[in-house]
Formats: sequence, C-alpha cells, structure tokens
Amino acid sequence: MPAESLRCRSCATEYALEDIGTCTACFGPLDPVYDWAALARNVSRETIAAGPASIWRYAPLLPVGAPDEARLAPGLTPLVPARRLAEEVGVRELWLKLDTANPTHSFKDRVVAVAAQKARELGLETLACSSTGNLANAVAARAAAEGMEAAVFCPADLEPEKLVATAVFGATIYAVRGTYDDCSRLTVELSFELPWAFVNVGLRSYYAEGSKTVAFEIAEQLGWNVPDAVVAPIASGSLYSKIAEGFDQLRQVGLIDAATPRLIGGQAEGCSPVAAAFAADARVTPVRPQTVARSLAIGNPADGDKAVATARSTGGAIYGVVEEEIGPNMALLADHAGVFGETAAGVTLGALREAVERGELGPEDRVVLVVTGDGLKTPGPVSGLFEPVDIEADADAVLERLGVLT
Ligand SMILES: Cc1ncc(COP(=O)(O)O)c(C=O)c1O
Ligand SMILES: [Zn+2]
Repeated sequence: MPAESLRCRSCATEYALEDIGTCTACFGPLDPVYDWAALARNVSRETIAAGPASIWRYAPLLPVGAPDEARLAPGLTPLVPARRLAEEVGVRELWLKLDTANPTHSFKDRVVAVAAQKARELGLETLACSSTGNLANAVAARAAAEGMEAAVFCPADLEPEKLVATAVFGATIYAVRGTYDDCSRLTVELSFELPWAFVNVGLRSYYAEGSKTVAFEIAEQLGWNVPDAVVAPIASGSLYSKIAEGFDQLRQVGLIDAATPRLIGGQAEGCSPVAAAFAADARVTPVRPQTVARSLAIGNPADGDKAVATARSTGGAIYGVVEEEIGPNMALLADHAGVFGETAAGVTLGALREAVERGELGPEDRVVLVVTGDGLKTPGPVSGLFEPVDIEADADAVLERLGVLT
C-alpha cells in the first residue's frame, strides 16, 4: 500500500485511508500522504518499464494497489507528434496526448479505475457519481467490467450521445432537473445516506490521484523528459492541478530532473470562473454555466483555487476561450492532425492559441496538448461546418464535378 494516510490540505489533520472525502474538522479537501524517501528507493524507470501497459505500471505512486486482474485497464495512451498543427499554431513542437484511446474515450477512465479499486478494497458494491457526461460513461463501464452496480447523476440536458454511452452499460441514470452543480450538491447529500462509492465525493482523494498518470506517461513517453508546457482543460480543476503534481512527484522520487512544465489551462468563456479568478488574481467566484462545452460546465469548481495556484507556481496561465471558437478549433484539430476531439479539446486548443497570441508560448516551445475526450460524443458544434457533395451513383457525375471529364 503506497499511500500511508489522508491529510487535510487546509488544517493538516490526518485520517486513515477511508472514504471520508473532506476533513471533518474544517471541511478542507484531503490528499494522500506518501513516504517519498521509501518510494525513491523502490521505484525506478526499470521497475516501471517492467509493469503493465496501463496506468497500473505507476501503482507505487498511486494511493491504491494494482488490481490482481486488471479489467479494462486505462492509460498508456498514445503521445503523437502533430507537426502540421504545430506549424499552424506557431510552436516548435506539439504532441497530442490522445486520452480518447481510453476504454470509454476520455481521461475519466483513469480516475475511475483508481476510485473503483478503492471501492473494492472497502467492500462497496455500487459506483456512483455526479457527472457532466464523461465521468458517467467511465463509471458505468467500470461497474459493468467489475460486476458492480452503477448510479450516475447528470444534468437532464446532457448530449444524447453521452446518455446512450452510459445507459448501454446498464447504469441507472438520474437525469437531474438542474445544472451539474445541482447534481454535485445532491450527491454530497446522498453520500451521507447511502453506502455507495461516490467516486468524486467520498472517494475524491483517490479518484483525483488517477490524473497524475497523464504526467507520468508524458514524461516516460518523452524518454523521461518534460515538455516546456502542457495544455489541459479545466472543469473542477482537478486534472489540471494533478498533472503538475505528477511532474513534481516524478522529480521527488528521482525519475526526472527537469522542472515541472508550465501548465496552460482552458475554460469555455460561458463557464470560466477559474480563468476569471486567474485574470483578476482573486479567489474563484461561482458562476451559472452557459456553454457549448458541457463536459466543462462546472460553475462551482472544487479545485478552482488550487488550479489558479498551479498556474502561478508553474509560470502558466488559464484562459477563457470564446464560445464561437470552440467548434472551429475542434475542426482545426481534426483537419490538421487527424484527431477528432470533443468540445473540451476545442477549448484546450483555443487556450494554446491564446497563449501563443499573447506571446506566452512561441517558436521555441515544445508543447503537449491533452485531448481529454472524443468528438463523437459531442458532434454538435462541428456538424454544421461541413457540407457533403450530393451526387448520383455515377462515375461520370463525379468526374464532371471534378472537371476532368473529357
Ligand atoms: C473531456 C473532459 N476534459 C476535461 C475535464 C475536466 O476535468 P476536471 O473536472 O478534473 O477539471 C472533464 C470533466 O468532466 C472532461 O469531461
Ligand atoms: Zn481540515
């Protein structure tokens, strides 16, 4: 068991490794505590390379042990160079971290795999969550693979693709009349009443740690090196902050020497409380979301202030991306790199372009852009951008249209 306890980020009270969620003394968030000296002695590039081709190769740096039998294991997703897009955007090198390659096509499979492993350790039988869509997909599929029950709470106006991609696994979907933030409040209340494994409430300390594996993989896939910047989307702020922590921890155990990359974050302008707090150098003030990027529509982000601190400590930045640019950015990613990312990816690419426009990143920089979810789940913003050629099933008709009929 690599983690030793949970510790409150605000008042430092320590707790046993249970499903507590928040500090009972001050309601602060709880983080796992590790013995870094022991880990530095026992974890090496070689032990990792000898591990499974999934997030579980990094099990010693996670708060749970690897499953005896890894079912539907996420991680070790491709990191691919995107030269045409790098040129178009104006950076020296650009890699895409394709988390669309996970079992349910988003990075959420990583966090759910870690939380589910803890749920099993604690003997809990129902996986549950509040979700903006991708988390619901991941919880439902994980429960199906593990033979557990699943109950998910989503805003009723979610993209139909995300509802189907949850329901098909046999999960119970509660389509809540309200926003994601209403769903979140509901699950916090229910977590006191039901013996369920709420992955992003009682198990949040474990769940969040799953996102560190994005950083671990980027470093390993670059030959235990780091890029100059990593660009990622922000909803609750957990993924973004944990990527930075992942690099910090690799350095702590001696797996890398380099400084943590600058973390550039993106939010959709219609739900940008973290970008606003970064710009104003203030604490996050909740907003009511109104955005096409539903997966990022969290108006009261649990780790928003932490994300702002991450931007500051890494020399990064967090930008709001204009709503009208999200669809065109999805199209740019697709037609310059061959990758169909979801609305969150349109936001992420928008944040990268903003960083270049402001001179924060440029022709010297080697950048990784995290594609956290799949465009097939959110086709709406690009479906109107393309017009097929309406044609008879006749070769001459095609040749005539091409102007090559002689
Ligand atoms: C595709 C996608 N990217 C990014 C995020 C942001 O994650 P976090 O809540 O950790 O900031 C989400 C959250 O739902 C998501 O679905
Ligand atoms: Zn506390």
